[in-house]
Amino acid sequence: MKQLIIEGGHELSGTIRISGAKNCAVALIPAAVLANDKVTICNVPNITDIDVLVNILEDMDITVNRATGSLVIDPTTLTNTNIKEELSSKMRASYYFLGALLGKYHHSEMYFPGGCSIGKRPINLHLMGFEALGATITNEGDKYVIDAEHLHGADIEFDIASVGATINIMLAASLADGVTHIKNAAKEPEIVAVADMLNKMGAKITGQGTPTITIIGVKELTGCNIDVIPDRIEAGTYAVVGALCGNMLKVDNIVKEHLGAFIDKLDEIGVFYDLGDDYIYVSKGENYKAVDVKTEVYPGFVTDLQQVFNVLLTQCEGVSHVNETIYENRYMHVPYLNKMGANIEVDGRIATIKGPTKLKGTEVVATDLRAGATMVIAGLIAEGTTIINDAEHVLRGYEGIVEKLTNVGAHIEIKDVENK
Ligand code: EPU
Repeated sequence: MKQLIIEGGHELSGTIRISGAKNCAVALIPAAVLANDKVTICNVPNITDIDVLVNILEDMDITVNRATGSLVIDPTTLTNTNIKEELSSKMRASYYFLGALLGKYHHSEMYFPGGCSIGKRPINLHLMGFEALGATITNEGDKYVIDAEHLHGADIEFDIASVGATINIMLAASLADGVTHIKNAAKEPEIVAVADMLNKMGAKITGQGTPTITIIGVKELTGCNIDVIPDRIEAGTYAVVGALCGNMLKVDNIVKEHLGAFIDKLDEIGVFYDLGDDYIYVSKGENYKAVDVKTEVYPGFVTDLQQVFNVLLTQCEGVSHVNETIYENRYMHVPYLNKMGANIEVDGRIATIKGPTKLKGTEVVATDLRAGATMVIAGLIAEGTTIINDAEHVLRGYEGIVEKLTNVGAHIEIKDVENK
């Protein structure tokens, strides 16, 4: 297992450059399967979730050339459309191969996807959308076999604005006959990025970023060059670091518009920052005020920053309430924050945080990706040394986290240890 060891209490200054967004890259890579020529994707983060996707591509005999920050994918060498259980179980976004393979080859097979254990995370909306496009789905245990003789456009309305289902239907419908409308579509920046890539490949998608997306099916999709957008979750994570132990810590290469609801909360708390179009300087302040936070679909406060934000709330004066509306089980980090000295009570989807409380270093666990980042931030401000077990989770989504934090003055190291 990997272990992160952090000596807390150091002031951080300098620049942290934000990498390409995990949740964008993990959709653009499967989308490349739809092309009839090479696809070049740049600004790809070097994280372990990307390693898994590359393994899936290679397992399908797709040729992949990986250089620092870029992938050249030649989907024309594909020889099979089955994704092995040991690969799909490693990450959630493996499900994007279902839509891409269905669109291009009218057949895909995959086991239920893995990923962070933060709730039930069913894929019923993805499957409902595929069926509306003309697919038939057979369950063989945990395996989904999806076939379509003919894919056709359809009107699809989601009862939840699901990021994954919206992207999967865009992937499958781009090569279908006729017009598809997705209603109550997700509006996250990652949706817009995938639609932009598909349009570069020759798709006809409009309405991305709004609740209704229209896809006019085309006969084929070509190769393209595309950049992954900056990671808004990584940006928010380091902005929280700045608010807790920064001295003009610069978080660079951000997209200001993607962080609106998060920045509003920094204002309410009283965090000192200087925001430009593509950067934010953040410094540690005093007398932070407790606030209430409710996670919502974009452009609301993003669930993926809820956990790291909890650390900031432990340092606010008064009582904060957090309402996690997206996932049933996204408070796995709380027992560990409490072990470090926080005062947080969880009742269902609501966490009540009383602050400010001093945090002390101890041994904790990264139960999932964002919980791991939460522990890192807690470790940076804690007195003494924090040891974070199962740190592999953090490496799934934060490129070069140890190097980035070390460069701005943090005392953090990662090592391999025997499993306990
Ligand atoms: N849902 C259903 N049925 C479905 C699909 C979703 O009930 O068929 C529910 C989910 O269980 C969840 C809610 O709808 O309660 C929202 O799920 P959504 O489909 O929007 O999420 P996702 O596509 O599985 C992506 C990100 C998550 C991020 C969410 C919301 C990827 C690979 N994952 O997940 O990222 O939290 O959108 O923004 O893009 C993370 O990065 O830490 C992370 C978990």
